[in-house]
Amino acid sequence: MEEKEELKVSKIAEGTVIDHIRAGRAPLVLKILGIEAGFPDSVIVAMNVRSTRYGKKDIVKVEGQFLDEEKINKIALISPQATINIIRSYKVVKKDQVELPKRLVGIVKCPNRNCITNSPEGVETIFHTEASAGGPRLRCHYCEESVELAEVELL
Ligand code: CTP
Ligand code: ZN
Repeated sequence: MEEKEELKVSKIAEGTVIDHIRAGRAPLVLKILGIEAGFPDSVIVAMNVRSTRYGKKDIVKVEGQFLDEEKINKIALISPQATINIIRSYKVVKKDQVELPKRLVGIVKCPNRNCITNSPEGVETIFHTEASAGGPRLRCHYCEESVELAEVELL
């Protein structure tokens, strides 16, 4: 057998592994998870590691955290191929590919400065997902401004 150089990243005992994150985007995932200086639990981050499926990928493993729908939707926006693995007693007990929801409420900022969602009244943003030739786009429910996924600004 040929010898292979392999990157070994520790397994976690209980928590969530976000795998197949688009290469270079682990810092955005950490931001979505609210992980910053002073975070108390174990976090393992791998960036630009080899992936059999997509060339290169990032991985984020968080001990003791399970993600709510809003965080998963945000991850879907910045990394549509990501998988969310739930780990219990070192075993993967659930594996889901993230999915772009049809409707995003209070997650994306509207780029139109005159949109009612950017007014001082603070109306919650609503975006609808639309397919287009250049990939999925989001359309503001109120002003109908359309945003490419790549340009999305998360709230
Ligand atoms: N993992 C972990 N700790 C565990 C179990 C799994 O950190 N106790 C990680 C693995 O390192 C991998 C991810 O969780 O990054 C998914 O694990 P698994 O389903 O066993 O790996 P694959 O079959 O390679 O997953 P996929 O088919 O989604 O690529
Ligand atoms: Zn708008």
